[in-house]
Amino acid sequence: MPPSPDVVIPLPGSGGPRDRRGRPLRDLRISVMDRCNFRCPYCMPRETFHDRYRFLGSQERLSFDEIVRLARLFVRLGVRKLRLTGGEPLLRPALPDLIGDLTAIEGVDDVALTTNGVLLAKYAFELRAAGLQRITVSLDSPDPEVFRRMSGGFNGLEDVLSGIEHACRAGLEPIKINAVVQRGVNDHTVLDLVERFRGTGVIVRFIEYMDVGSRNDWRPDLVVPSRELLARIGDRWPLQPLGRDYRGEVAERYAFADGAGEVGFISSVTQPFCGDCSRARLSSDGVLYTCLFATHGTSLRDALRSGASDDHLLDILRRVWVDRTDNYSEQRQAQRESAGDARKVEMFYIGG
Ligand code: GTP
Ligand code: 5AD
Ligand code: SF4
Ligand code: SF4
Repeated sequence: MPPSPDVVIPLPGSGGPRDRRGRPLRDLRISVMDRCNFRCPYCMPRETFHDRYRFLGSQERLSFDEIVRLARLFVRLGVRKLRLTGGEPLLRPALPDLIGDLTAIEGVDDVALTTNGVLLAKYAFELRAAGLQRITVSLDSPDPEVFRRMSGGFNGLEDVLSGIEHACRAGLEPIKINAVVQRGVNDHTVLDLVERFRGTGVIVRFIEYMDVGSRNDWRPDLVVPSRELLARIGDRWPLQPLGRDYRGEVAERYAFADGAGEVGFISSVTQPFCGDCSRARLSSDGVLYTCLFATHGTSLRDALRSGASDDHLLDILRRVWVDRTDNYSEQRQAQRESAGDARKVEMFYIGG
């Protein structure tokens, strides 16, 4: 039986609330921008996200001061790791200013950013100078045609590769690449992607295609199980399991036996990792979600903008966390059947 939310189980070095499954709050993912300069069909299909789609206006998005205030409060509840996401976070004007403020918060051990990399060459050094430690770049294929298809018709591959090089030179390390794999779409380029980055220090991680949101026409047969990719990659370059770096890490890591680095697998569909999930997500308009597959969140913006005290805000955050029961990926089929018409939140709106 999960522990009662009122029972505080001490962790080494910190307290903080536990959810109904006994999980602490450690990781806050902050979406700073719901827009994106790509239209990956599995995330923002062009038919829906066309020129007339109404994205958030700048007044609707949380200001940097509001984000920093909330981040500080989350840190008081146990958060140690912050990740900035989008949409595409580098589209948010003056992003380095926010990074400077977030990295200065006492208690934050790790600040990272997930980007599609198109604007990275331009911003890599500025981001590093602002205090950003490391970066994760989404790149589904090194093949220009496949890349084009998976980004919704953009020819940005060269820009992304140049962005990765600039990030390397700026010292935004370790650099990780996230590649979503879809059967029959890009799975034939998986070995090429591994080969492209083997021996460079860049860590490639393959993500099983997930049924996030309600607009990408997800089908189970499009998922390539990580086990299958592991076998294919391991046949070519022998691999040794490294396990996970830290409790709650989403990727399972493998080292190349010849010492040329490592690869990772994020297997939310075939090997769910909800048991250790300590992640909260904040949308760019200030809605707090406790699961990537949530259908509802809790808006913090009105409270923030109507003069709520820190104690009042902390109370809201604590209550949301201790009420949390999410484990969508462990019960995918049942949850899909019981969801009815309820729409899941979209990936571009709360980040990955
Ligand atoms: P590191 O801090 O570098 O270990 O990365 P991370 O754990 O923050 O992973 P990252 O943000 O790069 O996440 C990679 C991908 O894993 C995301 O884009 C999602 O697709 C998926 N992912 C991350 N967190 C979760 C989660 O809580 N649930 C599910 N189902 N998928 C997740
Ligand atoms: N399944 C798996 N990963 C996804 N991403 C976006 N949509 C999906 C999906 N349906 C990934 C992006 C990026 C990160 C933010 O999330 O490719 O790497
Ligand atoms: Fe943009 Fe990332 Fe979504 Fe692609 S997956 S449309 S790059 S937010
Ligand atoms: Fe966490 Fe929800 Fe992902 Fe499970 S499905 S790991 S609860 S975000």
